[in-house]
Amino acid sequence: MSLDVNEIREDFDILKEPMNGKPLVYLDSAATALKPKVVLDRMAHYNTKASANVHRGVYQISNEATQMYEGARKTVADFLGAASEREIVFTKGATSALNLVAMSYGLHNLKPGDEILTTELEHHSSFLPWQNVAKVTGAVLKFVPLTEEGRVTVENVEAAVTPRTKVVALNHVSNVMGFITPIKEICEVAHRVGAVVVVDAAQSAPHMKIDVQALGCDFLAITGHKIYGPTGIGALYGRFDLLNAMAPVEFGGEMIDVVDLAGSTFKDAPFRFEAGTPPIAGAIGLAAAMDYLTGFGWDAVRQHELALRDYAISQLSQVEGLQIFNPKTDTGILSFNLDMVHPHDMATVYDANGICVRAGHHCAQLLMRFLKQPATLRATFSIYNTQADVDALVRATIEGKETFDVF
Ligand code: ALA
Repeated sequence: MSLDVNEIREDFDILKEPMNGKPLVYLDSAATALKPKVVLDRMAHYNTKASANVHRGVYQISNEATQMYEGARKTVADFLGAASEREIVFTKGATSALNLVAMSYGLHNLKPGDEILTTELEHHSSFLPWQNVAKVTGAVLKFVPLTEEGRVTVENVEAAVTPRTKVVALNHVSNVMGFITPIKEICEVAHRVGAVVVVDAAQSAPHMKIDVQALGCDFLAITGHKIYGPTGIGALYGRFDLLNAMAPVEFGGEMIDVVDLAGSTFKDAPFRFEAGTPPIAGAIGLAAAMDYLTGFGWDAVRQHELALRDYAISQLSQVEGLQIFNPKTDTGILSFNLDMVHPHDMATVYDANGICVRAGHHCAQLLMRFLKQPATLRATFSIYNTQADVDALVRATIEGKETFDVF
């Protein structure tokens, strides 16, 4: 089954709003995806019909809110292939999920001389928490060498792992290169030396089925707003035995068992990690987004995005002086620059043409150094994009080249 993109576009009112007087061409879903009506409606239902706190009240709408919130946890568990919803912690996003692992598991389990293995391909959220753990604990941060193309390979991980490796932290899909990391095989290598694997899946979750049990990872982080859900909500998957042995990092209401002057005890995972009133509407919106996305079938989503990727590569390759940094991208994420033109200058031309792309270092400065670029342009192709969007991108690229071509 292929996607009916015209029908999908009807679900996104924002696509009917012009930008700078031009039809909106939204190619920045890797930064944040647009939100379909069903997500907004389910959040509105909670806010207008059952806007009570969860886990606290005994009255009807509070029970309803709790059911929706805990139902959302089950949806996330199913979306990720987790064995139980007790392995799912709601967080503010992927960043706070990854920080939670670093601040709890990392700070409490690592000691001087232990090794944390990561890569230059990481988003800052997947790298900085571990740089901090290394600084605080005296653990050593090591990098898996990337291939010339910029990929993480199992062989390179195997060569970098030592008996001192305690954590392997890396992305499932790079937010700049769109490469899929062979997580399953890397987990096998890491587990041989007893290391845990922490996966940043923020950029894979919108594009492919994730099955944490099949991958064999120990922790995995996602964010809601990149999978057509709301901002301010994400989730951490953690293997229950690990998660339940970890100390909380935030303390407050609802995460406690018994509070006493002499000391306090805390609930089992995941609740010990959800202090205070959680993002209830966000969790409900996230579940709606997951239902919406999986309703299309992963094969159809993937086929659609890869067809747009191929079309975009074939068209953009014809623009003289345009360099694509990831012509073999495994997803609809494409990074490129035009010779001698700063990406921010190009982004102004795209903006004037109603086209949203991201220009910058994409929170991946280590990778920019690897690519020897201060910044790149990045276009992402998603379920609501069309060939006409690619054509608009190519037309504006040619216009930008003519505008800035001073040589
Ligand atoms: N992490 C997001 C991106 O890659 C914001 O654009």
